[in-house]
Amino acid sequence: MGVFQGEASKDKYVMQADELTGGSVERFLSKNKKFGKVFDTVTFHISPKSHKKLEKVVLVGLGSKDKLDVYSLRQTCGFIGKNLTKDTATVALYLPSGVKLSENADVVVTGLLIGMFDSGHHKTNGEELKSKVKVESITLVSGENVKPDVIQKGLIIADALNGAREVVNKPANIITPEYMVTFAKKMAIEGKLKIEVFSEKQVNDMGMGIMASVARGSEEDLYFVVMRYLGAGSKGPTLAIVGKGITFDSGGISIKPSESMEWMKMDMAGAAACFGAMEVIAKLKPKINVICACPLTENLPSGKATKPGDVVTGLSGKTVEVINTDAEGRLVLSDALTYVQKNFKPDYIVDLATLTGASLVALGNVATAAMGRPQDFVDQVIKAGEQTGERMWQLPLYDEYRDMLKSYIADIANISPGRGAGTETGAKFLEEFVDKKQKWVHLDIAPTAWEEGDKPYISKGATGYGVTTLVELADNLANKK
Ligand code: BES
Ligand code: ZN
Ligand code: ZN
Repeated sequence: MGVFQGEASKDKYVMQADELTGGSVERFLSKNKKFGKVFDTVTFHISPKSHKKLEKVVLVGLGSKDKLDVYSLRQTCGFIGKNLTKDTATVALYLPSGVKLSENADVVVTGLLIGMFDSGHHKTNGEELKSKVKVESITLVSGENVKPDVIQKGLIIADALNGAREVVNKPANIITPEYMVTFAKKMAIEGKLKIEVFSEKQVNDMGMGIMASVARGSEEDLYFVVMRYLGAGSKGPTLAIVGKGITFDSGGISIKPSESMEWMKMDMAGAAACFGAMEVIAKLKPKINVICACPLTENLPSGKATKPGDVVTGLSGKTVEVINTDAEGRLVLSDALTYVQKNFKPDYIVDLATLTGASLVALGNVATAAMGRPQDFVDQVIKAGEQTGERMWQLPLYDEYRDMLKSYIADIANISPGRGAGTETGAKFLEEFVDKKQKWVHLDIAPTAWEEGDKPYISKGATGYGVTTLVELADNLANKK
């Protein structure tokens, strides 16, 4: 039972629970007036004499009523979900009317399932297989009239989001570019989406030499996946989503230090979020066209790999001096951005990428860095995030950051010489490949794609960040919100 801080004792459902526990609930609440903070819990056992089936009542804090927002609701439900997996079979979850379940049931359901999900285990003793949840059913109890399609939406989103988490968590020897293609193809077939998969040779032949330069060091082939959902006909609005899909980022010849390098299996989280969003969009069918374009490759050193100082040419005709092969995300994305603009003339573009460590330094594990233009569109994307509990914080795209990317030999360098503004210069590099009038937002999800510790509401690892924002944005744009 969810209880708001300081309001529990007035709730009639809580009073029913009080009866079942022989007055323990009321006694506890009157002694603990501050109970109800987010992540507060207390358990009361019910004797078989009071009720044949109900074994216990657990009160869970929802925080103070006026502070409840989608972000805290998603976390609280994640917390409930994560704890349910420990020993529970059948659950009834009661949320008081302040939660506005008729509007927020999707967030509740998604939050619960995010919390219950634990993925990617390869332990053979099965001990750690928490994903084998014992929960058989969850009944939502509410005084409100909740439409089944809101619940359904929550289930669809959670499914795709957890699916994305699964692939991001899995190691790079399993999740190769080719595996990602299989994942995308399966999804496209199920969702009746159009899909094109360009091989490394095709990418080269088409002139996407910046993208291809990243794959040169790897034994695995590069693939460029383009998926299309057509929900609005040829005159309707078109949103393009572009995801960074580096299945492993060693840094290439500019090799990373070995400490924490294993983490770089998550460098395809942008692509995974885009695929997850397409899976949802194919099911919820908003009235908008959505193009999803994801370059998929490894970034590895070898005798064939791109070297610092190499100059490569992209589909736009622009040349890039690759000063640092570890700044590879912007390289693959630049050609993907050119490709979607040339072929689909989208009204809007959003790219998602674990692009810079600097964004993690700036924002911690708390918010995504958002940059783009015009401001209206940046606001729209940030709002879509707010509506679904995914935080973003805008950083600037001042012209000075472009000056920092000057190359003496090519049109642009892929990094700036100094240590400052790493996230902004990354975005500025991408902006070079975005037409002047194109509405575009770049989301640097390096801070939010991964939870380093085991949080009370989500297990360690991939978060699936971006799926819900993209779905909400597509929906908002379709409804001109
Ligand atoms: N994939 C990394 C960025 C990253 C770092 C993501 C940490 C998640 C967590 C990216 O390709 C990279 O290596 N960026 C460099 C850019 C630098 C060479 C300008 C970085 O952030 O150090
Ligand atoms: Zn890198
Ligand atoms: Zn990377």
